Amino acid sequence: MRKMFIAGNWKMNNTLTETVEFLNEFKELVKGIDNVEYGIAPSFVCLPVAKEMVKGTNIKILSQNMFYEDKGAYTAEISPLMLKDLNIDYVIIGHSERRQYFGETDETVNKRIKKALEHGLKVVMCIGESLKEREQGITNIVLEKQLKGGLADITAEQMKNIVIAYEPVWAIGTGKTATSEEAQTSCLFIRNTVSQMIGKETAENVRIQYGGSVKPANTEELMGQNDIDGALVGGASLKADTFIQIINKA
Ligand code: PGA
Repeated sequence: MRKMFIAGNWKMNNTLTETVEFLNEFKELVKGIDNVEYGIAPSFVCLPVAKEMVKGTNIKILSQNMFYEDKGAYTAEISPLMLKDLNIDYVIIGHSERRQYFGETDETVNKRIKKALEHGLKVVMCIGESLKEREQGITNIVLEKQLKGGLADITAEQMKNIVIAYEPVWAIGTGKTATSEEAQTSCLFIRNTVSQMIGKETAENVRIQYGGSVKPANTEELMGQNDIDGALVGGASLKADTFIQIINKA
């Protein structure tokens, strides 16, 4: 049985003050929930306080990115050592916004993943096709390329610490969700590709999240699909009262 994993990707939203307010409320709302894994990825500047605030709860704290070197002259970058020092639970790597606006490629995604794992950080690796790619009918080609590039040289043992997030770019922040069939079809394709690349057992155990305009109203339908094991939630994770509804439905 794969445990559902609902993660909130806050992107460049919520100040430290808002993060503290959110967590004070959220901590109460999630009390006793342990059959689903859940967490948030606030901004880097909020990580130390967030991590401190969730002590004694099941709330996981994720980082939204990480650089692939330990230290050095890389102005404004965040190292795995810094995240490890804070006991960050997961690092999101390869989000489509990083790929689109900040030049992230499958190769740099792969470097980041290897570096995170080297330091004992778990990974949420994001992949997904653009609208143009879907319309051209090359969704599977794109997903396979991202999987092969991002997971190059990754072993079955390492895969135990990787979650895959399938996020069709056209569904992110647009209010346009993939239908549950579309999401299921792509997640199954991803699982089958992992099976070919790394093995059947790994594919059966790897958790695949869906992301892209997930909200309370579509959670049950999406999470009810065989190959969808959770969600990476953007906009609907920013407020505790909305995010808890998604967790409850999952
Ligand atoms: P959204 O973002 O839920 O606001 O569409 C999802 C994501 O980018 O992770």
